[in-house]
Amino acid sequence: MTHKFDVVVIGAGAAGLFCAGVAGQRGLKVLLLDHSEKVAEKIRISGGGRCNFTNRDVTPANFLSDNPHFCRSALSRYTPQDFIALLQRYGIAFHEKHKGQLFCDRSAEDVINLLLAECDAGGVTRWQPCSVKNIVKQASSPDDTCASSYQIHSDRGLIEAPQVVIATGGLSIPKIGATDFGYRIATQFGLRLVAPRAALVPLTFDGADWAPFAELSGLALPVLMETAPSDATPKQRKKAVVFAEDLLFTHRGLSGPAVLQISSYWREGQSVRMNLAPGQDLPAALLRAKASSKKLIANELASVVPSRLADAWVGNDPALQRPISDVPDKTLQMLAARLSDWQITPTGTEGYKKAEVTAGGVDTRDLSSQTLESRQPGLYFIGEVVDVTGWLGGYNFQWAWSSAFACAQALVKPDVTD
Ligand code: FDA
Repeated sequence: MTHKFDVVVIGAGAAGLFCAGVAGQRGLKVLLLDHSEKVAEKIRISGGGRCNFTNRDVTPANFLSDNPHFCRSALSRYTPQDFIALLQRYGIAFHEKHKGQLFCDRSAEDVINLLLAECDAGGVTRWQPCSVKNIVKQASSPDDTCASSYQIHSDRGLIEAPQVVIATGGLSIPKIGATDFGYRIATQFGLRLVAPRAALVPLTFDGADWAPFAELSGLALPVLMETAPSDATPKQRKKAVVFAEDLLFTHRGLSGPAVLQISSYWREGQSVRMNLAPGQDLPAALLRAKASSKKLIANELASVVPSRLADAWVGNDPALQRPISDVPDKTLQMLAARLSDWQITPTGTEGYKKAEVTAGGVDTRDLSSQTLESRQPGLYFIGEVVDVTGWLGGYNFQWAWSSAFACAQALVKPDVTD
C-alpha cells in the first residue's frame, strides 16, 4: 500500500514541527516523520533546558551565509514578534535574559508542547521513529497531465507526495540524532553545498603559546572579540563584528559566549584576537602604576584582569618578575598591547560533539529565498540544513521558525489526493 500525502516533512525538530503545523492548518494533508523516537531533542536541551527561542532584535546581520541577504525575506515575513504572539496565545511565560535573548520561564518543554499542539490543530500525521531509505522522483507523465511526485521508501512503507520538505538540521550533536541526510538528498538532486563546519563551538589549543594558560580552566572574564583575523584585508576589517561577551578558559582551550560567537567566523590556520581588558587604557594605567608603586608587575596587572590570568601572563619571564617601577616603559607598553590585542591560533574546535550548530549547508544559490523551494521543483529545505547560521542568542531558532513559515505558506494543495 502506498501512503499518499500532499507534503512530507522529514525531520521533526524546530523547523519541521513548525512547518508541518502551519501547512496542516492551511488544509494540506501532512506527514511529519523523524528517525528518532522523540521529537525536538535539540529544543529540549537548548538554553540550559529553558530554550532561548528567539531574540527581540533580529536582522540579517546576525546571520552568516555565503549570501548574507538570503535570510532577509523569510525573517521579515515571520518575525520574533510573531513567535512571541504565538507563545502568548498558549500562555507560555518567558523572560529576557541578556541582549534581547528570550527564554521560557518554566521549561523548553513548553515550546515543544506548543509545536505539537499546532501540529494536532493541523491534523498532521506523525511517524516516529521512521527511517527513510531513499527518495526517488517520479517523472511527470509524458503528456504532462500528471504533476511529478516523490516516492519515499521508508521502513513504514512507501510514501508518495508531490512536495517534500527536508528539515533534518545539521551535524551537531550526533548522539541525539543529527545526520547528514539533508546534505545527501541535496547532492542526490544536483544541489550545491557550502562545506559544513562546526560553529558556535569551543576552540582548542596546544603547544608552547598555550602552555602558560593550560592551568586556567574555569576562569571567566569579560572580553571583546573581533571577527576580523589578524591579517584582515581593509574590506574584512570594515565588515568586522565585535562581540562584548564573557570568555571561559577550559581544560582544552577557550569557550564562553565570546568564543562561541567567534568560532562561527574562524577558519583553520587563522588566529583569534581579543581584548582581555576592555574599557581600560592599559598603557596609561601601567605607566601610572610605575610612577607610584613598587609592587610586582603581576600584582599591578591583577587590578585590571583576574589575578590567575595576571600570573599566567607574566609567567616565568625574568624581565617581568620585577617590581613595576624597575620595568622600562617600552616593556610595559608591549605588555599592555599584548593584553588588549591578544592573538593566538587555535589548533581546532571541539567539533560536532560540542557544536551548537553547523555552519554551511545547502547552498542558497539553489534555493528560493521566498519559498525555500530548491531548483528541484517540489523539494524544499528549511532550518539549519540551509547555509544560514545565526549568532548565539536565539537567532537559530528564529531562522527555524521563519524559514519554516515561508515554506509552509508556499506549499500547495494538489487538486486531487487519494
Ligand atoms: P533540528 O536539529 O532541531 O531537527 C532536525 C530533526 O531531524 C531532528 O529531530 C532529527 O532527529 C531529525 N533527523 C536527522 N536526520 C534524520 C534522518 N536521516 N531521518 C529522519 N529524521 C532525521 N538555538 C537557539 O536559537 N537558541 C538556543 O537556546 C539554542 N540552544 C542550543 C543548545 C544546544 C546544546 C544545541 C546543540 C543547539 C542549540 N541551538 C539553539 C541551535 C538550535 O537547536 C538549532 O539551530 C535548531 O534546532 C535547528 O532546527 P532544525 O529544525 O533545522 O534542526
